[in-house]
This record gives sequence, structure tokens and C-alpha cells, in this order.
Amino acid sequence: MSKPIKTMGEQFNRRSWAEPWKIKMVEPIALIPREERQQALREAGYNTFLLKSADVYIDLLTDSGTSAMSDRQWSGMMLGDEAYAGSVNFYHLEETVREVYGYSYLVPTHQGRGAEHLISKAEISAGQLVPGNMYFTTTRLHQEMAGGTFVDVIIDEAHDTESEHPFKGNVDIDKLEALIREHGAEKIAYISLAGTVNMAGGQPVSMANVKALRQLCDRHGIKLYLDATRMVENCYFIQQREEGYADKPIAEILKEFCSYTDGAWMSGKKDHLVNIGGWVAVNDADLFDRLRNMVVIYEGLHTYGGLAGRDMEAMAIGIRESLQDAYVRARVGQVAYLGTLLTNWDIPIVRPVGGHAVFLDARKFYPHLDQEVFPAQTLAAELYLDSGIRSMERGIVSAGRDPETGQHRHPKLELTRLTIPRRVYTEAHMDVVAEAVKAVYENAHKARGLRMVYEPKYLRFFQARFEMID
Ligand code: F0G
Repeated sequence: MSKPIKTMGEQFNRRSWAEPWKIKMVEPIALIPREERQQALREAGYNTFLLKSADVYIDLLTDSGTSAMSDRQWSGMMLGDEAYAGSVNFYHLEETVREVYGYSYLVPTHQGRGAEHLISKAEISAGQLVPGNMYFTTTRLHQEMAGGTFVDVIIDEAHDTESEHPFKGNVDIDKLEALIREHGAEKIAYISLAGTVNMAGGQPVSMANVKALRQLCDRHGIKLYLDATRMVENCYFIQQREEGYADKPIAEILKEFCSYTDGAWMSGKKDHLVNIGGWVAVNDADLFDRLRNMVVIYEGLHTYGGLAGRDMEAMAIGIRESLQDAYVRARVGQVAYLGTLLTNWDIPIVRPVGGHAVFLDARKFYPHLDQEVFPAQTLAAELYLDSGIRSMERGIVSAGRDPETGQHRHPKLELTRLTIPRRVYTEAHMDVVAEAVKAVYENAHKARGLRMVYEPKYLRFFQARFEMID
């Protein structure tokens, strides 16, 4: 007699949890034949950003703008007040952000990089330094374009894929103090702190760390701004891992964390469960005045910032939904589930598993490949070829070139990201993904890497093209 199938809870020695929603509408997906995938990949220059979505089976390129909205959010879309000025939906969004994040003033933007553009331009003078907990591609570029230089002050553990440190997103306070001592506080534009550090593998920052940062900033008169893009997920890790927070709701943890910062920018396309939207919010009236004036140049009037009224309404509703503890547990739990499957098969991934994605350690998949033949890009291409699953390079291609020397930056982390959209895929999809990754891992010794044949000037990972090395 065959053994009964085990539930997830039995397999992982816990009580099972389930998503706090059921599915009302579905979108068909299909796996195209291998020869067609080969052709599609060649035409895309071995860059998963250049694949057509219709040629993708399970799309784990990003969790950005790929969420499934709820019936409540879709209902909100019907309440869009598409007035050029003073839309009802703007006031709803403003009130929601004030209440949930605690900041005084809100400026909406079309997405996260619109907000990064505004705050970088408003708060960085040419020649200033912007210390932060690891770079993010668009964030750093906007800081550089505003005349600043990003300085990485994340703890060393963040660069080690095997370290089990519970808060690998933390700022190294000693590194930061040394930087301030060396250059003086006036040379620091602000601290750029990200909740769950994307490029480190979705790793959280602890409450203790942000408190220590606040004290340091107060001593030196430096501003502390937060990239709140995945801050809800960060708060889940605080609740699970940090002493004193186990019984506190996510909403309360979020508000406390933000209270130690002077303002934040946001890509609503992640935590807020919408397909488009962002904002920047601050406490200082003078800074708000400057941001509000600038937004009309680059995004749109300060009561829509590049968004339709309906988009702002969906975002306001999504913010509330994102704070439900059962939702966050299922969201991060699904990522952890995929991570556990891979860990059980000894497949090298970034540990501990982060909030939004499982990051494959491409250096360990391909110990025979030099970083200059783009191991993580190669892995993303191989995974698509094997199974139609789309992932994203987060290694040397994403790191780009040093603006001073023109040389490739060589990040320690050479990762391929399997990013899980919110409320979109089931556990069965995760099983399919895990088996595909296993198949690619077993054939890894055959890979020869890629050669870059086209390189755009800015954010090259989006549009670069490659050829297979024979
Ligand atoms: N900050 C972080 C931490 C991000 O992950 C992103 C986007 C942004 C800012 C910029 O926001 O895309 O709305 O302009 N990350 C996406 C990703 C693109 O796939 O990780 P945006």
C-alpha cells in the first residue's frame, strides 16, 4: 500500500497555515515547448527582462507590480475620482499613509523611483555621501545623479550567503561612525535605510538597529530616511525574531519602526498589493514644500503624482490589507516554503530565506565560472530554458560599472532571484519551481557562461544582451 501524502504541516513539523483568501478569478498560463523557449531566449539576448511574458510559464522575475488585487481593491478602482486636482482618492491615501506609517506629509509618485528621484534631488548636494545598508539599483543611481556617492555600511554578514544572522539587513554602527568621523557630519546627505534589503536576499533590519541609528543621527544632526518598499515584510521578521515583539501586531511594529525615521519613500508595487504607485512622505514641513513643488515638474500635480485616482484608491485599500498578520504570515511563509524545499536538497541559496524571494547562489552552482562570464545571468537563462520559469540576475550585471573608473563593480553576491508575487501562485507552483531548480543544479557543470554583446549606459541589467559561450 502506498504511503498517504503528508500535509505541509506534517512535512515541516508544524501546524499548517493557509492563505487568508480564496481565488475568484484565474489567468491561464502555459509552458511552451523547449525549442520555442530556446528561440525566445536567443531573441531576448539571454536576458530574462527581454522575454515576452506570453513565453513565460511561472513568472518569478519580480514581486513588483505583479500582485493580485483583492475584490475590495477592484471595487475601489470603480470609485476613482479622476479630477485633475484634489481627487477624493488622494485624501484617502494621504490619511491612510499618515495613520499607518505615521509621517505628516505625503507626496504621491507614479512608482518608487519617482519618489527616489524627488528625495535624492531635494536632500543631496554635489559631493555628499549617502551611507546605506547595501545599494539598490535605482536608489543608488538617483543618489549618484543628484551628485552623491553611495557608501555601503551594511554588516559584513550580509555579504555571506551562509551566515544565519537573523538581521542581515542591519547597518554596522561602527562602520557608519567611522565614516562620520572621517568626513564630518556635514558631508553626509542622509542615511539611506532599506527595510528588508533586496540585494542582500530580502534580509531584515532589527528594531534595535533602527533605534541605535536614530540615536547616532540625533548626536550628529543627520537625517534618516527609509526605503519602506518591503517594510511590512521586515516587520514580520521583527515579530518572529526580535525579543519583545512576538505579541505585537505588524501594524504596531511598523509604526514604531517608522517613528525612528524622518521620512520614507515607497514603491507601492510591492507591499501595497497594487500594480502601480508610490509615494514619499516626510515630517519636515520645509522639505515637504520642496518635494511638493518638484513633483509637479517630474510626475504630475501633488494630488496625483503620475497616478490615476483609481490607482490611489487601490493603494489606500492595499495598505490596510498588507497589515493583516495572517496575510503577511502566508506571504512570507510561501517564500520560506520554497526555500525549505531547496535547502532540503542542499541547493545553495541565501540563508536565512528572505521576505520576498529565494536567492540562488550562482557562485556555488557554477564554481568553474568566472564572475566575468555572468554566472547569475547564466543561471536565469538556464532555468528559463529548462522549465519556462523566469527569474532575475542580481549579481555583476545588476551592480553595473563604477562611474569613476568605468570598470565592472564586482559584488560579492552573485545571485539569481526567484521572486514570489503576492497572492498569485500556489504551493503547487512552488513545487514545480523547486524541481526545476534541482534539474538545473544537477546539470550545472555543463554551463559555459555568457558574453555581453550590448550594454546600455544606465541600469544595464534591464536591457543588456548576451550570447552563449560555446
Ligand atoms: N527600492 C527597492 C528596495 C526596490 O526593490 C525597488 C524596486 C525600488 C526601490 C524602486 O521602485 O520599481 O517602483 O520604481 N524593485 C523592483 C524589483 C524593480 O524587482 O526588485 P520602483
